[in-house]
Amino acid sequence: SDSDPLQDFCVADMKGKPSVNGFPCKPATQVTSDDFFFSGFTKEGNTNNRFGSNVTAGNVLAFPALNTLGLSMNRVDFAPGGINPPHSHPRATEAGVVVKGKLLVGFVTTENVFHSKVLTVGEMFVIPRGLVHFQRNVGKGKALALTTFNSQLPGAVLLPNTLFASTPTIPNQVLTKAFQVEEDIINKLKIKLS
Ligand code: GLV
Ligand code: MN
Repeated sequence: SDSDPLQDFCVADMKGKPSVNGFPCKPATQVTSDDFFFSGFTKEGNTNNRFGSNVTAGNVLAFPALNTLGLSMNRVDFAPGGINPPHSHPRATEAGVVVKGKLLVGFVTTENVFHSKVLTVGEMFVIPRGLVHFQRNVGKGKALALTTFNSQLPGAVLLPNTLFASTPTIPNQVLTKAFQVEEDIINKLKIKLS
């Protein structure tokens, strides 16, 4: 859903100053074949963390040739039992395919309807733009998904971090009322996620 380009390509000059949308173009005389290829997905991500998952981003920041082209991809690795926690992408619809293992994929609509399915290798999913979604590895071994976005920089709002580990944190009076729990629970969440 990014705006349409007005030229073949505009490989981002990452040293240039970002403008209103995207990055300035590297001069065409400095563009080489290497600019259009990205090896960032060849290595498994480190899933040794609290969620048991790892997102390797193939967005414009990692792969500058995507600048102005309106799409990007992620490599998402999962340890057994690992989750990609509930999150949303403010600037893109997401599609993905399971490359290894077995994933429960789910999202919630703005009407609060939960849609989910367990997918195996070769199966594809779509997450409408901006909706909260997650994946959980429900197989015995590791799992791997490749995801794609109709934005060069879809952004990710990770709900656990956004709600309980912002800087500075959201006041407890807001969170206790929003979640209808006592302050000690909010404090625990803030400590665990910080
Ligand atoms: C998966 O949901 C991803 O954002 O790559
Ligand atoms: Mn996502």
